[in-house]
Amino acid sequence: MQKEESYKWAVKQIRSKVKNHVNTISTLANVSAILKERFPNFFWVGFYFFKEDHLLLGPFQGPPACVKLDINKGVCSAAANEKTTVLVEDVEKFPGHIACDSRSKSEIVVPVFDSCGNLKAVLDVDSETLNDFDDIDKKWLEKIAEYLKAIW
Ligand code: SME
Repeated sequence: MQKEESYKWAVKQIRSKVKNHVNTISTLANVSAILKERFPNFFWVGFYFFKEDHLLLGPFQGPPACVKLDINKGVCSAAANEKTTVLVEDVEKFPGHIACDSRSKSEIVVPVFDSCGNLKAVLDVDSETLNDFDDIDKKWLEKIAEYLKAIW
């Protein structure tokens, strides 16, 4: 329940940022900050932009991360290619997982589309704990991605 309450709070903040949106980078930077502030278990949270043959690091909070991700390798690329949320309980068991930081143990990646349905980015969240994400995270992070349709 506490997690639902945290997401409700975060979504309220994010909706306000989207409502006052002026620039994509700025809004996504604030979305990353809102999530990192509210969820202490989010070790890394941020966006990768979809660039046809790779994913490019966007606004994020957490330790430094890989700048370019091969579009055929890793969790973020799987979410981009399948255009669906990918939830990984144990990153070491995900073939091709890209370890930007060896402290990441579990991960959830949600695709972000524009209002025409074009893939624009993925929202990636990493945790230092195994199996740290569930259907509640999936539901709310997808809801956040829905709200972000308006900013492209
Ligand atoms: N682990 C991701 C790479 C991005 S970092 O987690 C920030 C992947 O396998 O795509």
